[in-house]
Amino acid sequence: MSSEPFNKSFSLYERAKLKIPGGVNSPVRAFDPYPFFTRFAKGSKIIDIDGHEYIDYCLAYGPLIFGHAFPPLLEGVKEALERGVIYGTPTEQEVELVEMISRAISSIDMVRLVNSGVEATMHAIRLARGFTKRSKILRFEGSYHGAHDSMLVRSDPNSYGRAIPSSLGIPSGVVDNTFSLKYNDPRSVDELFSKYGSEIAAIIVEPIMANTGLRIPQPNFLNELRRITKQYGTLLIFDEVVTGFRVGLGGAQEYYGVDADLIAYGKVLGGGFPIGVIAGKEEVMTLLSPTGKVYQAGTFSGNPISVTAATIILRELLNNGTKFYSSLEKKRRKIEMRLRDFIRDREIGAVITGISSMFHLSFTNTSGGRKISSSARFSLLFHSLLAAGVFIPPSQSEICFLSAAHDDLDVERTLGFIEEALLKT
Ligand SMILES: Cc1ncc(COP(=O)(O)O)c(C=O)c1O
Repeated sequence: MSSEPFNKSFSLYERAKLKIPGGVNSPVRAFDPYPFFTRFAKGSKIIDIDGHEYIDYCLAYGPLIFGHAFPPLLEGVKEALERGVIYGTPTEQEVELVEMISRAISSIDMVRLVNSGVEATMHAIRLARGFTKRSKILRFEGSYHGAHDSMLVRSDPNSYGRAIPSSLGIPSGVVDNTFSLKYNDPRSVDELFSKYGSEIAAIIVEPIMANTGLRIPQPNFLNELRRITKQYGTLLIFDEVVTGFRVGLGGAQEYYGVDADLIAYGKVLGGGFPIGVIAGKEEVMTLLSPTGKVYQAGTFSGNPISVTAATIILRELLNNGTKFYSSLEKKRRKIEMRLRDFIRDREIGAVITGISSMFHLSFTNTSGGRKISSSARFSLLFHSLLAAGVFIPPSQSEICFLSAAHDDLDVERTLGFIEEALLKT
């Protein structure tokens, strides 16, 4: 890591704040005192404008399973650009891509391409409402399905199961149709359905919850959601924007052996280019316009650059098979096991959780007998790691990702830095 100060990031931040609210174009990128501004990134490293290099476990919040600037991706996209940026007409590549997606995920009959995860979940919800002709949706506390109105909610502390807006600007009428329950508690779902089941269009769930730390489904939770939704004619939507193509080619559906009716994908599939996917069974998907009456559209949907990127990523994943995922998992296991032992042996009030190529460190509200909030302790960890040359997501809610570009040396160095940093928390 360079010993240069952060002068350029600081002055860019001062300029950015004048024209961009908070100086960032997505709130999670902000951190105190100011974020570093990136000059370039390659493989497992991200390099800031002041010359500091970081081993990157944020990986743009998940998409970069092959690491930054993956050479086959760059090459393919450069070639695609020569043929034009966007046409507004269908292309052969779109057909090939959606055929590949349905080959990779056997439960899927049909696919609609969109531009992001938020679009995918928003349209999946509309589609479920259109298909069932019902209005209500159940989601789970702590999940994130993108910043759209019906999902920007939290549980109402005064009315069990009900949701209230978690942002200004959302009319209460919109969230009156959203229920919010605890994740991993199928009994509460059963109870809710016994009252409202016939009004609920869909349950939307992150099968592995990855937006309030990392929460693994308890045995049978997803199966129970499947059973209950079948019983009440409700659709089950898996939000696999994080887990899709990340926990295996078939995502969480394959990992847990539970098929959803609709699935939203994004992140990994585009390799860093914006793409989202709504996928599902033919009888539901054909309700989308123009064949059906659920309207959904997008100028950039299926654009040739994102489609090319997704095709390259998917081809690589298909060619590499399960070996690819098991080698990522091996790195994560090493991190998780070493840190678990370290935390236990030193009696540090912290918990490491991991699955597949994702991991997360969370803190308790005490350290060495002192009261210190978990967020203050996380901030100490984050800044110690940053100073050492390791970039993890700046919020305690976000999780760390591994890529194929992270080598043994990266992992070994990171472990040393995390252990040192943990001692300061
Ligand atoms: C589970 C989940 N769903 C949906 C989204 C929204 O995706 P995007 O930010 O690509 O629109 C995210 C984003 O982090 C997510 O984690």
